[in-house]
Amino acid sequence: MHDANDLSQLRVLVVDDEDDIRLGLKRLMQRLGARVSEAADGAAALRELERRPADLVLSDLMMPGMTGAELLPEIKRRWPGTEVAILTGYGTVQTAVQCLQEGAAHFLTKPFDNEEILRLVRRLGCQILARRSADGGGPGATLVAEDPGMKRVLELVRRAAPSPMPVLIEGESGTGKELVARAVHAASQVAELPFLAVNCAALSDTLLESELFGHVRGAFTGADRDRRGLFAEAGGGTVFLDEVASMSPAFQGKLLRVLQEQVVRPVGGSRDLPVRFRLVAATNRDLQEQVSRGAFREDLYYRLQVVRIHIPPLRERPQDILPLAASFIARAAELCRISLGELPVLGADAERALLAYSWPGNVRELENAVQRAVVVCVDGAVRPYHLGIGGGAWGEPTAGEGQAGSYSEAKQRALVQFQREFVERALERTRGNVSQAAEACGLTRAAFQKILRQLGVDRTDFLAD
Ligand SMILES: Nc1ncnc2c1ncn2[C@@H]1O[C@H](COP(=O)(O)OP(=O)(O)OP(=O)(O)O)[C@@H](O)[C@H]1O
Ligand SMILES: [Mg+2]
Repeated sequence: MHDANDLSQLRVLVVDDEDDIRLGLKRLMQRLGARVSEAADGAAALRELERRPADLVLSDLMMPGMTGAELLPEIKRRWPGTEVAILTGYGTVQTAVQCLQEGAAHFLTKPFDNEEILRLVRRLGCQILARRSADGGGPGATLVAEDPGMKRVLELVRRAAPSPMPVLIEGESGTGKELVARAVHAASQVAELPFLAVNCAALSDTLLESELFGHVRGAFTGADRDRRGLFAEAGGGTVFLDEVASMSPAFQGKLLRVLQEQVVRPVGGSRDLPVRFRLVAATNRDLQEQVSRGAFREDLYYRLQVVRIHIPPLRERPQDILPLAASFIARAAELCRISLGELPVLGADAERALLAYSWPGNVRELENAVQRAVVVCVDGAVRPYHLGIGGGAWGEPTAGEGQAGSYSEAKQRALVQFQREFVERALERTRGNVSQAAEACGLTRAAFQKILRQLGVDRTDFLAD
């Protein structure tokens, strides 16, 4: 593990009813340089989170009042971005496994060893901070395009960008639609003007309308002053409408009018205001199919798709996989303050695993896998099992499945993922010794081996070199 991680931006909340343990954990977090707060029970934890949101909660399972198992779903519901790791006494492993299914990032059994906690928090902390900075997106991210499929996309971007025509970007989730939208803006004649993004799926009709068109004071409860909408704010720049397929029919009509007449009527207002902007829209659903089903207005569709850019899924542009991985390694290493000389290296077997996988979550999934590998790999060598991706007969989501699917499928995937991490970690610790690993997991050798077979995990990957 590289010890130069900067976790000073990481906010950790420690929840435990035992004063000693709380204090001990707090000191450990301080040792990592993280910002730490504490709470003695579940209710106090929620109050603390309201005052000071946390990136990571380390919570005991058994506490008087609200237990850790009850606290977890509440945190996940109210602060979906907050990761929760459960600390549990012996004998409650069953509950802890349930917690993983409810979205806990990890669990540790007491009595735990300090190194183990430090390692866990470094790993999760690094991922959280890396994710936060990636979400910031921004011009910092360089667009990798080595595969002919992606080169064609860039060529289209280059040709379409200078005109003021609306652009529609289509592609599965995680293929890089937002990045391409930013590239269109950056190559346009309005690159110096704002790029304003709105996710249509995240907002109700009313909020979307007020966000885009603005509102006047008193238009609704809480509207205590006039507010300009994004179309007006853009001032000739680019407005990026993400997930357009989820706009309601009513809103589609309103948007169409804006595009036709170049005016908006703020919510509660009585006058139209002229607006100027370049529209870039994105969808991960087949808009044409939505049109044929009557779920999307045809007239609006034709206005949006004057220029259409389709981003192929990652599985259809294999030549991008390794260059993307290399760029993500460099970025993750930078975030984790790993010096250039110590950049983790992909082993040939890890490269094969990356190339063989179907990437249902596309580039975003690749980015996550690589970030994870950079943090968990040992001595800078990335092996297949550090990537946390499928490779065996099961556990690998089939092509096109994406993040979607039923609850039970998602649960099954989470469980397989958990099993994989669990057994791989045990094998890593015992350097591939199955008997010792099985014992550490409290399983018989036969049961452990059966799991390895089901997951397609090869113990020889873990032998000391
Ligand atoms: N060609 C690329 N080169 C470098 N990074 C990329 C590329 N494509 C995508 N990424 C990175 O992958 C992540 C996902 O990309 P992005 O958010 O643009 O995808 P998206 O299609 O908008 O996903 P969603 O449908 O889930 O919103 C981002 O962190 C982005 O920087
Ligand atoms: Mg997006």
